[in-house]
Amino acid sequence: MCGIVGYIGPKQAQSILLEGLRKLEYRGYDSAGLAVYSDGRLAVQKTKGALNALEQRLSSHPLTGEVGIGHTRWATHGKPSDENSHPHVDGALQFSVVHNGIIENYMQLKEELQAKGYTFTSETDTEVIAHLLADQWDGSLVSTVRKAVRHMEGAYALAIASVKEPDKLVAVRLASPLIVGVGDGENFIASDIPAILEHTRNVYVLEDGEMAVITRDEVSLVTTDGTPVHREQLRVTWDAVTAEKGGYDHFMLKEIHEQPKAIQDTLVGRVKDGVVDLSQELSLTEEEIKGIDKIHFVACGTAYHAGLIGKSVVEKLVRIPVEVDVASEYRYRDPIITPSTLVVVVSQSGETADTLAALRAAKQAGAKVVGITNVVGSSVAREADEVLMTWAGPEIAVASTKAYTSQLIAIDLFALHLARVRGTLDEQTLKAHTTALLNLPQQAEAILEQAGSIQPLAAAIAKHDNLFFIGRGLDYAVVMEGSLKLKEISYIHSEAYPAGELKHGTLALIEEGIPVIALATQKEIFEKMVSNIIEVKARGAHVIGLGIEGDTELGKSVDETLFIPATLPLLNPVLAVIPLQLLSYYTSVARGLNVDKPRNLAKSVTVE
Ligand code: F6R
Repeated sequence: MCGIVGYIGPKQAQSILLEGLRKLEYRGYDSAGLAVYSDGRLAVQKTKGALNALEQRLSSHPLTGEVGIGHTRWATHGKPSDENSHPHVDGALQFSVVHNGIIENYMQLKEELQAKGYTFTSETDTEVIAHLLADQWDGSLVSTVRKAVRHMEGAYALAIASVKEPDKLVAVRLASPLIVGVGDGENFIASDIPAILEHTRNVYVLEDGEMAVITRDEVSLVTTDGTPVHREQLRVTWDAVTAEKGGYDHFMLKEIHEQPKAIQDTLVGRVKDGVVDLSQELSLTEEEIKGIDKIHFVACGTAYHAGLIGKSVVEKLVRIPVEVDVASEYRYRDPIITPSTLVVVVSQSGETADTLAALRAAKQAGAKVVGITNVVGSSVAREADEVLMTWAGPEIAVASTKAYTSQLIAIDLFALHLARVRGTLDEQTLKAHTTALLNLPQQAEAILEQAGSIQPLAAAIAKHDNLFFIGRGLDYAVVMEGSLKLKEISYIHSEAYPAGELKHGTLALIEEGIPVIALATQKEIFEKMVSNIIEVKARGAHVIGLGIEGDTELGKSVDETLFIPATLPLLNPVLAVIPLQLLSYYTSVARGLNVDKPRNLAKSVTVE
């Protein structure tokens, strides 16, 4: 996830582009850059680091000109560095491009362009676009862009400026957000509304496969096939603060709603011929994979809860014994680590001190370490032997949501990769799992469409000071995450309990009216779960049951029901956590708390 902006008009572009990028910093903040056209040439300033670093550079080397594009980056291909920052240009500085998304076939395009003599200066997928434009130049910017995008596979929002036709900018969208702001004698491009709100409230929202050709006085929309598009302008009525959150009241809610996209992005490029295949990005050899005799998942907090799901998934699909550890405990319990142990550390930020310490200890003990992280160039990404990225984009709210579901997806992908190499699943089963994974974004979307129905349940929960989450098997791991979410943002004490274990002590705490959230998504243990629900109901609990759509039994033993669409049982956690996230969110709102920044907590915990 990156932020892109563009400006064409009578004013100096630099300050308008910088202001716009400042409003988009939440989309990425590891590097930034501008390209501005003036006097027959494009001048570029870009640098690794936050926007301040770019501003500092511009203060001594300002860019003058009234047409330009800008970018704030959240690294995907290539670590954060000056060279990998956007805008990217072709060798002759004729075309400059900023990009949000992933060009999946960039390697192939790069090789083809290199064979034709184009020289690359970065590790990014985006640079191919600049060279491709130079290669495809046919005398018209619009037709050249249309030809170039025909070669590109993946997801992109692009803003392009060129010395060939300096009186226009071109914007293109496929599966990454892009808007055009319509001003008076000036026009704008942006990834998101906040970037342009100071200048105009009239926007066009581009749809997939569309491009905008923008001059000072005119915006025309056309599909990349060349068909004109007639679209009403949208009048934005949000204030600037709401706009930054994409129209949502809080970043957490926005991020909950971004999960279908985060899941989708984490799956992109990792399925070949209907089956998961990570051999392009992992260098673990077949021999090494076959030699693994145990796996340790090590992480903190929400990422640890993802590891708990990982244990069930890997043990079931790959038949390798798995241990899961809280990172702050791992080092001190003297774990048995040998060269045939694979240690998987999971960390959204890639900077959590305890997780890093565990990673280093595991490496020192001779294990191979796979890092699952959301931040390219983070310490985990740099220090792990192998990296499996989650492509959730920046997560701003302290309470982790889209990072967690993306971690589950990365773990599922990893398990299926191991299962394929070790031959523990047949082709048909591998395909069935892969298909089920690919259906998850749409199923997550369906849950989010029902988000409003959770609000009244949350309003009732908000009045309590204690509650319980119960589940069995995978559901138990999911309720641990649900309980953590509720605690951290609503300050309500809750406990997650294996449902069958209550009667060994904790049942004593169940009293009249106490809310119990009971997950019953696992078919094999459904009856057992219902018995446990009846145990708490008999003691007066008010039970909210979460089951699978089509289940007609659960409703008979609970007070309220929530349902998720049916998928493979091992994938239920990806969907089941979403109603729990929403429940925590709305409970926190009902209590009038600071949802995005709960007390005593920080987004990245860099102390042990
Ligand atoms: C809870 C939450 C934390 C993090 C934990 C690990 O919502 O976000 O529990 O999961 O601090 O952080 P990372 O994944 O960055 O290592």
